[in-house]
Amino acid sequence: METIRGRRSLDLDLNELNARLTNYTRVILDLGTGDGRYVHHLAERNPRWFVIGVDACRENLREHSRMKLPNALFIIARAQVLSNELNGLISHITINFPWGSLLESLLTGDSMLMHKLELISRPTTSIDVRLNGGALAEQGWTLEAGAEQIYNNLIYSGWRVKTPMLMSSQALRDFPSTWAKRLAFGRDPHAMQLSGCI
Ligand SMILES: C[S@@+](CC[C@H](N)C(=O)[O-])C[C@H]1O[C@@H](n2cnc3c(N)ncnc32)[C@H](O)[C@@H]1O
Repeated sequence: METIRGRRSLDLDLNELNARLTNYTRVILDLGTGDGRYVHHLAERNPRWFVIGVDACRENLREHSRMKLPNALFIIARAQVLSNELNGLISHITINFPWGSLLESLLTGDSMLMHKLELISRPTTSIDVRLNGGALAEQGWTLEAGAEQIYNNLIYSGWRVKTPMLMSSQALRDFPSTWAKRLAFGRDPHAMQLSGCI
């Protein structure tokens, strides 16, 4: 599994990963983490949690992966083909404002992604997906229809998900990720959140 810290990449195997996870109460996985700001925020404020950020694009991760928090880790991978080393380890999954193939997989109910979400989960894993109107419009969906489609795909894959909720502009402003801030102060500050558990 390829991890990154600043400009350096490092291969981490299952034993090394398990050693790092010892003594943490929760393992959070942020898929499509972008620049990793959300991971940084969670790890800094929750020293008993281990927080993992995953993104397909290494350039995005340079700045925040440089920090030396013992409870944060950044992995370079496509969400659909995440390493099996994460199987059964994750207590909470977040997917914040996805675009590109990550959003497409959620919209199509791509079995590679859906199966991967199931494999990395524990029996009590929870999930939060936050969606923005602009990214959905690029894939030909309105915010409401896209959120409903993803809701249905998650239900079909065995997740118990609550009805999608609109995120207020205040909620977007307060949300500690780079993309939330961009949306909150941009031209189209519309977003929805889906929350559920396995
Ligand atoms: C709009 S950004 C959101 C970043 C971050 N979650 C935030 O809230 O600031 C979407 C991110 O999804 C990543 N992404 C898209 N497809 C992906 C995939 N298949 N696997 C992993 N990351 C992906 C992109 O590289 C990008 O960094």
